[in-house]
Amino acid sequence: MVQSVTLRRPDDFHLHLRDDAMLRTVLPYSVRQFGRAVVMPNLKPPVTTVAAARAYRERILQALPSGSTFEPLMTCYLCDGTDPAEISAGFEGHVFTAAKLYPAGATTHSEYGVTAIDKIAKVLDVMQKLGMPLLIHGESTDPGIDVFDKEAVFLDRTLKPLLEMFPALKVVLEHITTEQAANFVDADTSGRLAATITPQHLLFNRNAMFTGGLRPHYYCLPVLKREQDRTALRRVATSGSRSFFLGTDSAPHERGTKEAACGCAGIFSAPTALEAYLSVFDEEHALERFEAFASESGRLFYDLPPNEGTVTLTRERNDAPRSVALGDGKSIETFMGDGELSWRLVDHSST
Ligand code: DOR
Ligand code: ZN
Repeated sequence: MVQSVTLRRPDDFHLHLRDDAMLRTVLPYSVRQFGRAVVMPNLKPPVTTVAAARAYRERILQALPSGSTFEPLMTCYLCDGTDPAEISAGFEGHVFTAAKLYPAGATTHSEYGVTAIDKIAKVLDVMQKLGMPLLIHGESTDPGIDVFDKEAVFLDRTLKPLLEMFPALKVVLEHITTEQAANFVDADTSGRLAATITPQHLLFNRNAMFTGGLRPHYYCLPVLKREQDRTALRRVATSGSRSFFLGTDSAPHERGTKEAACGCAGIFSAPTALEAYLSVFDEEHALERFEAFASESGRLFYDLPPNEGTVTLTRERNDAPRSVALGDGKSIETFMGDGELSWRLVDHSST
């Protein structure tokens, strides 16, 4: 049995770092694992301008542990009124790496999002010309659609027409959760469509939210789906295809806001994400394809150079804590903490 895996330092292509004290608490966990991360712009208020993204990037850099070379890759939150000139200035000025499309009302802090694709047609045209990736939260916001069908309906009603309307636009369908999405992205041969997959959607199906009671720490959006969906995601993630890559969607929320009558969506996986993904590749007998998923396919899609250095994971009990303290008695629950994983990232300081 393989006891140790070393790979080029990976990147996280979908990460929520938040701001202020929360940022300072969660950032070191991602820095331990990843060389770069695509940072989501759904702050309150959202990051909609070059100036706001520059300032947010500066706050992230200030919060980095000393000596860290971690690089935050900033994104712009698209609104109905986004100015195409802001997008091109941000991309050409090396501030924006990508822009994020939240359908208005689809998820946490998406109320300023896009109400119809027509509203951002000029922006998408500019992005297509620039080669700037569009990152999509792919869920229908039609209140008549069953929560488990929102992604599949989005594919048919919104994504397919959008891809036809903008035939050269680079698109990442974020955190895919269904067999339909896995097959759709897999079938695309153009190279301009890709998808990120989270650890929770590879490890759990929707039963996890209801095992023995209601379990808010397994609640995220898009919500966990059926077993056949999880199986399809595992198949494409471990296939070696360049179209699927790592994006944790680590989304910290203070415990009290999740363990509530109307709990927030989001799973905080930053302390354990890489080990959680590796356990999937281990179970699928695909350890030799882990580096493609974690360190190569994403950066190739984004036209980024390979990271310097490596990370090593060993087969042993993962001792990440069950929760991370925020101060004032507050905390964040960790995904698969407290020994649930049997792979562990070897700290750099000890290598
Ligand atoms: O579960 C989620 N949490 N899904 C999202 O799309 C947003 C995220 C957050 O910001 O908390
Ligand atoms: Zn997200």
